[in-house]
Amino acid sequence: MEILTTPQELQQTRATLKGSVGFVPTMGALHKGHLSLIEKSVKENDFTIVSIFVNPTQFLPGEDFNKYPRKLEADKEICKRAKVDLLFTPTKESIYFEDEVLVKAPKVKGYILEGHFRPGHFDGVLQIVNKLLNLTRPTRAYFGKKDAQQLYLVQKMVREFYLPTKIVGCEIVRDSDGLALSSRNIYLSPQERDIALQIPRSLKRAVKLIQQGERDSKKIKEEMLKLLKPIRVEYVEIVDREFNFLEQIQPSNTIILVAGYVGSTRLIDNVWI
Ligand code: PAF
Repeated sequence: MEILTTPQELQQTRATLKGSVGFVPTMGALHKGHLSLIEKSVKENDFTIVSIFVNPTQFLPGEDFNKYPRKLEADKEICKRAKVDLLFTPTKESIYFEDEVLVKAPKVKGYILEGHFRPGHFDGVLQIVNKLLNLTRPTRAYFGKKDAQQLYLVQKMVREFYLPTKIVGCEIVRDSDGLALSSRNIYLSPQERDIALQIPRSLKRAVKLIQQGERDSKKIKEEMLKLLKPIRVEYVEIVDREFNFLEQIQPSNTIILVAGYVGSTRLIDNVWI
């Protein structure tokens, strides 16, 4: 596995790759969720590139940029074992410019849900993902469905900027107790983790209600909120795959999303119906 730290090195090495290229962008502190994306990429492509960069522009002032887990040595080992070909670990100075040209998230879909509670977050995500897609020019790029709105907005950017990459959405990976894997789960104390389990439970309850024939979003959200009482909920919402709010469940075209705080840890989760 080759480790590259500057955009110039990555561009030069990318130009030598003949065949399909899979790309997995990450912020590191790799867990089994990331590994599932990497393994899918290794399986589906001739070459796999992984990036690790805790992107400062997608954190709002007061968010956890400084304490976000950084585990570069362990991450390198995970990538090596998973047969990653190129690992890209830029610094902020190497990848960003002074007064640079900015990508803006769409005014509506970039400023609802996550974008409402973290205004500007998706501007930063799209800014870095655009750079990374241009540097890696992948055949396929892999994103987790856990960040459902991010996945949607990246797909939208790729379509609207005519980028030649297929964006592949990958299933959420959960611990045996049901909690969706996230690099932020390490912030949770054992007691907080117990409370956090109400999030996947509320999503399971929603699925059950839908299986029993319930279609009314309001009723489903009310039932979910009963289970989410111990959590400082930011939103429980039901949208279609294009992130339009739904009053009625549309089978095969619905995402149910939850975001909230357990203690000082912000968690998100969702289920695709
Ligand atoms: O999902 C993430 O880890 C980040 O938002 C991404 C896509 C690597 C951009 O920094």
